Amino acid sequence: MKKILYSGTFDPLTRGHLDIIERGSRIADELVVGIIRNPNKVPVFSLEDRKKMIESVTAHLPNVRIDIFEGLLADYAKQNGIDAILRGLRCTVDFEYEIQMAQINCKLKKDLETVFLMTDEKYSFISSSMVREIYSLGGEVDDLVPQQVSDYMEALKLKEEEK
Ligand code: COA
Repeated sequence: MKKILYSGTFDPLTRGHLDIIERGSRIADELVVGIIRNPNKVPVFSLEDRKKMIESVTAHLPNVRIDIFEGLLADYAKQNGIDAILRGLRCTVDFEYEIQMAQINCKLKKDLETVFLMTDEKYSFISSSMVREIYSLGGEVDDLVPQQVSDYMEALKLKEEEK
């Protein structure tokens, strides 16, 4: 039984993230999407909202589970019987950072493998911060995030405007 962890801030989840989750779920027996409480980032969307958005887009994937955690990835892996970390690679710049992370995680938890999937070229230019910027300036994000996420973001904006 291979349990794989795909973690990130997901502020918000993009079409690129969903592509990695769907492909990862075909490799893993169980794929845990770990939303990290990252002290270095000030998120726009609450953890609860991010979790709901991810739940709505992964409802069709029975072996995908969502969790929230803080601290070291390697510690979460130790405590939760994770066999491998899944990461998406978008470009060569990602590679330099990712190789360092993979090696550090392997030092922190022996035999913790990192598995990489190449991001589909359709999504190679997407990042959550780009989505946040377009959203905050009133632009269209439908091509960048799954429909359910776009609807959720729109509903949040309306709620904000009503206040
Ligand atoms: N498609 C679209 N966007 C993608 C993507 C993909 N396939 N892969 C990454 N991205 C985007 C993310 O949305 C994020 O965008 P943003 O910075 O504009 O918001 C950016 O690329 C960076 O993603 P990522 O590297 O996954 O950062 P993260 O903050 O989402 O998550 C962790 C990084 C969780 C993996 C890392 O911080 C971590 O492991 N933290 C725990 C502490 C730890 O153990 N550290 C290791 C020892 S130092």
